[in-house]
Amino acid sequence: STVYLNGDYMDAEHAKISPMDRGFLFGDGIYEVIPAYNGDMLGFTAHIERMNNGLNELEIVLNYTPDTWRIICDQLCNKNQGKNFGIYLHVSRGADTKRAHAYPTGITPTVFAYAFEIPEQPVSIIESATTYTVSLEQDKRWQRCHIKSTALLGNVIHYQHGAAAGNKETILYNGLGELTEASSSNVFIVKDGVISTPPLDNQILPGITRWLIINILHSHSELKVHERRISKEELLDADEVWITSATKEVGPVIKINDTLIGTGKPGKTWQRVQSLFTLHKF
Ligand code: PDD
Repeated sequence: STVYLNGDYMDAEHAKISPMDRGFLFGDGIYEVIPAYNGDMLGFTAHIERMNNGLNELEIVLNYTPDTWRIICDQLCNKNQGKNFGIYLHVSRGADTKRAHAYPTGITPTVFAYAFEIPEQPVSIIESATTYTVSLEQDKRWQRCHIKSTALLGNVIHYQHGAAAGNKETILYNGLGELTEASSSNVFIVKDGVISTPPLDNQILPGITRWLIINILHSHSELKVHERRISKEELLDADEVWITSATKEVGPVIKINDTLIGTGKPGKTWQRVQSLFTLHKF
């Protein structure tokens, strides 16, 4: 496949970076995943803003404008075979001459991007939806989960625990027993027709899919959504649970550990919200 590295497009096997890159040595970088359907990106501006917030917080200075990024994303869609893509953007602090914890001055960030094919969009049909069985465990990541850092080992370990149990995600709760998010998704619950999701703070990533869903719900007054603390007991007792991300959209969870959610099938509210989301895309 064709990838982008520091200003050039090249075959993936020709893309090389230094082992002294701080992305490699420290996970010192920021990333994004932007969905593109038939060449149209969803939430592009919000994704770039979130990346810039992360870069600012890490004091990584990069002079790419949103237009620079848009051209890179368009080029990757055009230069690769496929219809729908997840576009991965990655900025690390760059390569130094030595390994030292302090932020070095005068180095150039490394910028890498590639496109991976994603399946046809999720269908909002209860019988044929992609469903998720998930694990549930205490969130043992760091306290800066709002930063979309490339240092994902905490997330990877949580995901792996789920995978080892035959699941496709791991939902997390904090030391107070409150739902935070999942290892690579945000979480929503539905109880008696009311939708809730944890509020934005340092414990979760401000997901763009989460944000799009909340906006869609706000323009449909019959669908109420609350951003509030949710206990792990409420999670397990919910009628519906969804995990959301750029590639999953609204993913219905049918089982958490050994607990069946609702009837063990995607729910009516999921169906409504996923179909509104699909409409919103075009
Ligand atoms: N994951 N929370 C975490 C920890 C995530 O890694 C992600 C996204 C989300 C959802 O964010 P968004 O709706 O903006 O995709 C929430 C990406 C897709 C990944 O790591 O592959």
